[in-house]
Amino acid sequence: MKKDFISIQDVSKDEVLDLFNLAIEVKNEVKKGQYRNVLNQMTMAMVFEKPSLRTRVSFEAGFTQLGGHAIYLGPNDISLGKRESVPDIARNLDRMTDIIMARTFSHKSIKQLAKYSKVPVINALSDYEHPCQVMADYLTIFEHKGKIDSMKFAFMGAGNNMSHSLMLMAGLMGMNMIVGCAEGYEPAESYLTISRELAEKSGAKIDITNDPIKAIKDADIVYTDVWASMGEEAEKGKRAKAFMKYQVNKELFTHAKDDALFMHCLPAHRGDEVTDDVIDSKNSVVFDEAENRLHAQKAVILRLMKKA
Ligand code: CP
Ligand code: NVA
Repeated sequence: MKKDFISIQDVSKDEVLDLFNLAIEVKNEVKKGQYRNVLNQMTMAMVFEKPSLRTRVSFEAGFTQLGGHAIYLGPNDISLGKRESVPDIARNLDRMTDIIMARTFSHKSIKQLAKYSKVPVINALSDYEHPCQVMADYLTIFEHKGKIDSMKFAFMGAGNNMSHSLMLMAGLMGMNMIVGCAEGYEPAESYLTISRELAEKSGAKIDITNDPIKAIKDADIVYTDVWASMGEEAEKGKRAKAFMKYQVNKELFTHAKDDALFMHCLPAHRGDEVTDDVIDSKNSVVFDEAENRLHAQKAVILRLMKKA
């Protein structure tokens, strides 16, 4: 693996498959024990500019389970780029810790941390990407469907960090993906281009449509995310109007396959992008995805730190 895990573009298909094998191994109750102390005396710096439930807990619990210690640095602790520059923060943290994870507003901040830090840096969500979530999502798909390619993956929602990372992963692994999205809120052109280049090699198709029924029709996997991401709260009302017809409710979900998985990175805004009758239905695997954050990230940490 490369030194850092900033984007799905940082890993090859073989590396993703290897990480899944390792994640399944560390998840397995019998084998888990062999990784219990591999990070003894090691420290992870966890830099957060935004709130979190799953990311903070899965990284902190995961690092502890591997024998190390994680330090939470919240928005008021180091004030990324305000109290001191991002390069200086990187050049301090890498003298005291063994690995850094960061959740930032700007993707550029994570890239800068990686550039100036001698220890590995993991993207724990930026405005452009959320690669750790997508690793957990595809691990979940593998567990439920037995494969991670050649199916129809419908993402219902805005062009954002989630849709970008999911498109890259679909292109890389050979999943056919369609984004059902309101006009003017499509994923960034650059992500579409790179994802399509990857898809050309893997034999997959990546599409965008403004028609929600076309997007969800016969889908094997239906994924949604909040319409307004962290940092976009001021646009909540405007986005709610634009996205209402993409709401994943029971009626819309009937257009997907009967055994379609419902997925969501969480937190869910119930009654907005998804209704209770879908997120609480037998098709929903949202808490499996949440749990898999722990296992997938432990695999990423072990490989980056060369401890497995
Ligand atoms: N899915 C996810 O990243 O959740 P948090 O924002 O709670 O960390
Ligand atoms: N797109 C969402 C994902 C949250 C995990 C956000 O950035 O707020």
